[in-house]
Amino acid sequence: MGLSAIVVTDVLQSDAAGVARAAHLLRAGSLVAFGTETVYGLGADATDDCGVAGIFAAKERPRFNPLICHYPDSAAAFADVIANARAVRLAASFWPGPLTIVLPRASRCAVSLLASAGLDTLAVRVPAHATALALLRAAGRPVAAPSANRSGRVSPTTVQHVLGELGGKIAAVLDSGPCAVGVESTVLDLSGPDAVLLRAGGVTVEAIEAAIGKLRHRDDHASDVLRSPGLLASHYAPTLPVRLDATDVRRDEALLAYGPPLPGAALLFQLSAERDLTEAAANLFAGLRALDADGGARGLAGIAVMRVPQRGIGLAINDRLKRAAAPRPPGYR
Ligand code: TXA
Ligand code: MG
Repeated sequence: MGLSAIVVTDVLQSDAAGVARAAHLLRAGSLVAFGTETVYGLGADATDDCGVAGIFAAKERPRFNPLICHYPDSAAAFADVIANARAVRLAASFWPGPLTIVLPRASRCAVSLLASAGLDTLAVRVPAHATALALLRAAGRPVAAPSANRSGRVSPTTVQHVLGELGGKIAAVLDSGPCAVGVESTVLDLSGPDAVLLRAGGVTVEAIEAAIGKLRHRDDHASDVLRSPGLLASHYAPTLPVRLDATDVRRDEALLAYGPPLPGAALLFQLSAERDLTEAAANLFAGLRALDADGGARGLAGIAVMRVPQRGIGLAINDRLKRAAAPRPPGYR
């Protein structure tokens, strides 16, 4: 372990000075976390091999899992990839917003090949967050940014979550407030003949299908697993075991509730009392973290989760919950 691994993480305010400082750090090759409308991202200058390599090191992320590149507008994003009619239509409808589009890399693309993890495609997105857009404009180059958590863990939706995950490992975090959407962007592969949903997220399948027609879902075809190598089964995992579709709660379990809570839980976090899926998405990761921390401290045995409807942004919520409940890799703690 070299001493260079130890840094103090600055918390920068989302004013002009904070944005300028964050942009300067990015341009100098440092790692800077910043808020978006979905979750906090761990950013680096995407054109800098060392910066991008630093993301993989700080997250302990497998090198085969590619990164999303962030841009201030669709013109900048489409300069680095080979766009097509469907991509242009979706960008017009949903950017800035929680949609990521995977397209073939353009020959002129200056993004580090590490960010594509050996694929000939690049994932691009324009986030809908004023501070993030100001940062991207000030940086003046594409910013690679996966979620700012250690690999396999719950994504962060506040500055405190980021500091808990990566404090001391990154130069700074730009405080952009809590994330409004709360689950990651929808990832759509438009690099081939079919439009393939790689990850459910902030833009609903219904909305995308209204714009470009029927999507193929990644899980339908085993070959798609290779197209998005990052989608490992266990992910978003708290330390406590997670039990889905609970219809009762054991006395030694915490409850993640959706609507009127099941009786008898030792500890409760409400995703949405009114059964509002948008509100539930915004609360999801903070809820998992809170139950994990408080439940762990009280010696509880696990987290029971009430059923969330499989429609709209509920697809993204259920995808994250399913991965949070998946068998953990050996040595996980
Ligand atoms: O909302 C979000 O998307 C957040 C914020 C920070 O923008 N970012 C995020 O990044 O969730 P990350 O790295 O945690 O998830 C990116 C997903 C991974 O599942 C990865 O495998 C997939 O996108 N991905 C990235 N590049 C890809 C590519 N070229 N082909 C296929 N999948 C790709
Ligand atoms: Mg992630």
